[in-house]
Amino acid sequence: MTATIASPATATVIHPRPEAQRPETAEHRVEGGRERADPCTMVIFGATGDLTKRKLMPAVYSLMKEGLVDPDFAVLGVGRDTGISDQQYRDMMREALEQSDELSGIDRDLWNSLCERLHYVSADATNPSEYDAIRQRLEEVEEGRAPEQRNRFFYLAVPPSVFEPIVRSISSSGLAPRTSSPDERPWTRLVIEKPFGRSLETATMLNSLVLSLFGEHQIFRIDHYLGKETVQNVLVLRFGNSIFEPLWNRQWIHHVQITAAEEVGVGTRGKYYEEAGVVRDMFQNHLTQLLTLTAMEPPAQMSADAVRDEKVKVLKSVRWLHPDSIPGTAVRAQYRAGPVNGKLMKGYIEEQDVSPESTTPTYAAVRLFIDNWRWNGVPFYLRSGKRMKRRVSEIAVQFRSPPQLMFGHKTREVLRPNTLTMRVQPNEGVSLNFEVKVPGAAVALTSEVEVAAVDMDFSYNDAFGEASAPAYETLLLDVMIGEATLFTRSDEVEAAWRVIDPLIQYWEAYHPEQMPTYAAGTWGPREADELIQADGVAWREPT
Ligand code: BG6
Repeated sequence: MTATIASPATATVIHPRPEAQRPETAEHRVEGGRERADPCTMVIFGATGDLTKRKLMPAVYSLMKEGLVDPDFAVLGVGRDTGISDQQYRDMMREALEQSDELSGIDRDLWNSLCERLHYVSADATNPSEYDAIRQRLEEVEEGRAPEQRNRFFYLAVPPSVFEPIVRSISSSGLAPRTSSPDERPWTRLVIEKPFGRSLETATMLNSLVLSLFGEHQIFRIDHYLGKETVQNVLVLRFGNSIFEPLWNRQWIHHVQITAAEEVGVGTRGKYYEEAGVVRDMFQNHLTQLLTLTAMEPPAQMSADAVRDEKVKVLKSVRWLHPDSIPGTAVRAQYRAGPVNGKLMKGYIEEQDVSPESTTPTYAAVRLFIDNWRWNGVPFYLRSGKRMKRRVSEIAVQFRSPPQLMFGHKTREVLRPNTLTMRVQPNEGVSLNFEVKVPGAAVALTSEVEVAAVDMDFSYNDAFGEASAPAYETLLLDVMIGEATLFTRSDEVEAAWRVIDPLIQYWEAYHPEQMPTYAAGTWGPREADELIQADGVAWREPT
């Protein structure tokens, strides 16, 4: 049963950074309260790759459509593919936009305007001697712009194995000088895709390298989950309302379940996935982000550093996963063949570029405890997997049962504890599940009362009549305006690795042979059910 919340009459725009930190001049603002970007050039390494075609170009197109990029915005694509002219690159990007499922059609005038801003230079970005060619093209692209408007950001849409040489060369070539403050003009920024390192050790090394060449304010580490509307809404829901916060603690919350389930398998990404596995791919970043936003204390202010300080504190309070405790605390598994939506899907080891002997996990579930005053003793169950029954990401907060059940013995069996669910995707929204009396069925409160669970539901789509902006659109705009709240700081990345590393080490070093499996199209292995049932609870069947 569902009671829908009525559409909001007004929406107030909340600017996350205080005025004092980010001057908002008239020309910075556009209708709807969103800030317009500074004039800048986006230099994309991996300009012909999958990420550029599927995510970055559609995001640039949408930002232009909304009038959020500056008239002096330009893109310089850098790629290894030789013999590609600007025109060929533009054709390639046009085709990518036409195939994008994030856009509904291409407007001719808008495309013409984007088209003339797209440029390409062929260079091996891992080779320092090729940076002269990049510099030359960049200077041509920036010609006509005042020196203080020659802002640049370098987007590393490349495999992590080449981050290091590219970061070094961007710096040594002088294309992106280190700046001492975020207010310096022109600015230069670096956008780094996940995965940031393969382990705590490698992430720490990468951080030291990057921080020896650039200021932290110049580095934007992407976790695209943070660009999702509902993920950001967790903060507004918690700290923009007064009804939740008094209940948001160990006294009232029984446990929290965080799920990121995917219907898709590894597809054509077998090579990458074989090296990553679900723990590096989803837990180290997306799931720990959802965990920290759910569990953090209110920040001193809505500034990037204040929010990130609180998130780091949560990660530092997560109880260390001792190798001896891992068997009763965490489960990983791999999908085998099975039907998804009536169609038989291959098992993981039959996928393209995957070894038939692979021990890479495609599913994991873990119980974490946060040892602080607010959360002591409250389990946080995290799970994620590919080829599961449905695509769904959500945070479900389950409250404690009433201390006394007084409506007859039958209700004892059917009464379910209240649950607040924040749906990240699909159908972004929030619902609160609670019990009501079924009309007419009661005789007297002392006898058996029939009860039923109902949902009070808020859906973004119904309330605001539009789908939320794709994550990359939000994040690209934030890079261009220098807003870092939705990006991961160096200490945050390392703290997340510290939580996750023991799992990876344990499974990779000692027990690869004991890999459970689950059939594609299910909610995961039996062992994961047993893990949570040992605590007297069950996984939610997401709605
Ligand atoms: C990416 C992972 O970061 O997130 C992918 O590398 C995963 O394996 C994807 O499929 C999920 O993102 P979304 O936005 O589709 O939920």
